[in-house]
Amino acid sequence: MPAAQISDLNVFLEENHTRIREELFEFLRIPSVSAQPIHNADTARAADWLKSSMVKAGLEAAIHTTPGHPIVMGEWRGSPGSPTVLVYGHYDVQPAEPLELWTSPPFEPAVRDGNIFARGSVDDKGQLFLHVKAIEAHLAARGKLPVNVIILAEGEEEVGSAHLEQFIRENKELLACDAVVISDSAMFAPGQPSILSSLRGLAYFEITVQGPTHDLHSGSYGGAVVNPAMALARILATMHDATGHVAIEGFYDSVREWEPEIRQQMRTLPFDEESFRGDTGAPELGGEEGFTTLERLWSRPTCEVNGLLSGYTGDGAKTVLPAKAMAKVSCRLVPDQMPAEIENLMAAHVARVAPHGVTTTVKHLHGGRPWRAKLDGKLYDAARTALATAFDKEAVVVGEGGSIPVVGDFERILGTPVLLVGFGLPGENAHAPDEWISEENFRVGMRAMAAFWDAYGES
Ligand code: BES
Ligand code: ZN
Repeated sequence: MPAAQISDLNVFLEENHTRIREELFEFLRIPSVSAQPIHNADTARAADWLKSSMVKAGLEAAIHTTPGHPIVMGEWRGSPGSPTVLVYGHYDVQPAEPLELWTSPPFEPAVRDGNIFARGSVDDKGQLFLHVKAIEAHLAARGKLPVNVIILAEGEEEVGSAHLEQFIRENKELLACDAVVISDSAMFAPGQPSILSSLRGLAYFEITVQGPTHDLHSGSYGGAVVNPAMALARILATMHDATGHVAIEGFYDSVREWEPEIRQQMRTLPFDEESFRGDTGAPELGGEEGFTTLERLWSRPTCEVNGLLSGYTGDGAKTVLPAKAMAKVSCRLVPDQMPAEIENLMAAHVARVAPHGVTTTVKHLHGGRPWRAKLDGKLYDAARTALATAFDKEAVVVGEGGSIPVVGDFERILGTPVLLVGFGLPGENAHAPDEWISEENFRVGMRAMAAFWDAYGES
């Protein structure tokens, strides 16, 4: 990339940085928590805000209602004959609770040590917004883009993207494109641009165990009535064997082993196990035997308890035999495990191991398929060029343990390759208190994506 050609874009981004940052803060102030109905109006307001911001950037934008939260779509199609690229992101955020653990309020962005702290700063408002601004830079500095672009932003990613697949199916022509680009992930390390080669999928369950119809005195009934909390504990304890392997029958049947060369390449990444452990605060790392930490995160499926509820949990002691117990359990999936297949296996497993004397139900809450990238072709070449230009360092290829359910849908429904290039960092506290994005990454991310349009347009 000739330096002169991108410098006008960088100049625009630098000259406008104060305004851009203020706009980002406005976006972050809107509590678009998709999971909490109390924030439905805020979520709608975030969609409106985003639409206006796309218009300001020079796109034509519209809001599409769904049975859930709206989808915002922006388009610039002023480059007939050139390829079309779709940028996907999400404007909804995770709940901010527990609020008391935030250093500054979650919806009042604050800068500390070069990082912008706010719910959604990195996941995903900041990363979505940097794309809007990279496009704005082209349209403002040059009046055009070298390609046609579509921005598709949903408000339900954090709750499983229930309405997006159907929207894509119903609007296949409108969304037809040559490539999809997504920034909703992290870099491997500060200053180290990273391209994702995989995402895990997800199958999320709520397991309930019902015993008596109401809570009972644990003296008058305990020992003679099966305790649902104990029953649930026993059920959960059957989900792994002693080596950390998931013990649900058939769970690994569709797992495709990673190619030895990819495994080998993963092992050459400079992964600092101790600093990773330090980020977690856990006394020791642990997982499935026979795999490194990165393999456990990127290439192995899991089964985890996300939440547990039963009985008396207030101050002091209350002698009670609870009527029911509930666990939220999720499985991260790897190719070629399918959420529907895991749903059946989980239901069969719970039915098989459930003790007598209680009734169990397994409700499937949501899911998403795992994904592996093909990693070649002009989309990836352009990404490597743009990232190297902006960060002055070659990108590395990394896996990812999280999920973005729609990625596989884009590939299957639109028939296009998907590029995942994120600008978060390890320790960014996504989904947790004190979520942050590095201000430097936000800045360089805008430059990188501005450079990406040139690199892709030229190829
Ligand atoms: N941005 C994440 C996906 C992600 C997670 C990327 C971790 C990189 C690292 C996304 O917003 C997310 O949280 N996805 C959910 C999907 C779920 C709600 C279906 C996830 O992975 O839990
Ligand atoms: Zn998220």
